[in-house]
Amino acid sequence: MLARDENERVTRVGPGTPMGETMRRYWLPALLAWELPEPDCTPVRVKLLGEELVAFRDSQGRIGLLDERCPHRQASLFLGRNEDCGLRCVYHGWKFDVEGRCVDMMNEPEELGFAHKIRTGAYPTVEAGGIIWAYLGRAQRKPAPPHFAWTQAPPSHRHVSKVIQETNWLQGLEGGIDTSHVPILHRVLSADSSRPGFKPGDPFVRGKAPTLELDVTDYGYRYAGLRPLDGGEMHVRAYHLILPFHQIRPARSGSGRRGYSGAAGHIWVPVDDETTMVYNWEHSTTEPLSEEDRLERRLGNGPLDVDQTTFRSKRNRGNNYLLDRRVQKTETFTGIDGVNAQDRAVQESMGAIVDRTREHLGPADRAVIQARRLLLQATRTVEAGGNPPGVEPTYYGLHPAEAVVPRETDWRTLLAPAPSTETLQRV
Ligand code: FES
Ligand SMILES: [Fe+2]
Repeated sequence: MLARDENERVTRVGPGTPMGETMRRYWLPALLAWELPEPDCTPVRVKLLGEELVAFRDSQGRIGLLDERCPHRQASLFLGRNEDCGLRCVYHGWKFDVEGRCVDMMNEPEELGFAHKIRTGAYPTVEAGGIIWAYLGRAQRKPAPPHFAWTQAPPSHRHVSKVIQETNWLQGLEGGIDTSHVPILHRVLSADSSRPGFKPGDPFVRGKAPTLELDVTDYGYRYAGLRPLDGGEMHVRAYHLILPFHQIRPARSGSGRRGYSGAAGHIWVPVDDETTMVYNWEHSTTEPLSEEDRLERRLGNGPLDVDQTTFRSKRNRGNNYLLDRRVQKTETFTGIDGVNAQDRAVQESMGAIVDRTREHLGPADRAVIQARRLLLQATRTVEAGGNPPGVEPTYYGLHPAEAVVPRETDWRTLLAPAPSTETLQRV
């Protein structure tokens, strides 16, 4: 559990809040690259950390991310004209370039114009891994670019999507670093069911309840769920948390093909305190991803499940996630289809910002407890003028692991190359 003031500190992300200021020290996914497909295309509204912004790609292909309100009299630049290397407000024709400079004013005679004195809020962006990332903090503190192994993979071997979750960001993150729920919430009850989830024969399900082991690192932590199996073996699933909100986990093929392996993960990006844009990525380290993989049928995040204009899930709170009680009795643990749709259902059911003063946590919640501790520490580090974990490029190249191995195996050997030992601290 957390005290009420700690829960406030770790969840709220508006300007001036401790976590808000901490989040502004990182590159944040702002939108998918395909949302701005070509020069002079339609601008896109973006909301990040409670701030209303508008993104556009100018005539030279450069990306602009500006405050949505025009600095003249606050009309929305989303309504604007994207033309000749700038976004022009349709109210009085003020025009802004990608740096936020006012380059033209249509409503003032040339000799009285003061465009050169006007600048609007503009944020730097980088494109990596099919995502346009934004940095909302002070220029001199800009971190290393977000070059995770998966963002550096060729487009044929990676996939990224996004979906809105109607909760605070931390609730999503806590679900993603909570291995103990996975073979329970996502369990398939019968071996011959074609519904997505983990089947009875899967070692993840056959294994007994897990022991969690965790090492704090300079980017966050790495941890594993160790599940004893019969015959002196155990099932290992090893993950990474990169602050503030990145999970890296072992991937399972969407189409269930053999011979495919890789990593997958989520990024829980705060839209505002009660809304999260969840980015879902998958990275194959062997063969290219298929069209079937990109439909994400197993997860419930693909174009068949999520409206690609609003990014709202078709299974949502308003329709009880299309829960089917007959399926719940006979086929799957929840009766809801789609592994991530199941996650959204339980996490949204906890309330917009879960009241962590009412919880009863146990050893299986160890990774969740440690994440909160690191995040709270990060807010204090930032307040003291320091750098929080995860801004240096030490997370580049990290990969997850999943295996059935003899019980005495050290799971850390599965994660080689390991972070340097000086930066590790076992807890
Ligand atoms: S409000 Fe934008 S130009 Fe006047
Ligand atoms: Fe889950």
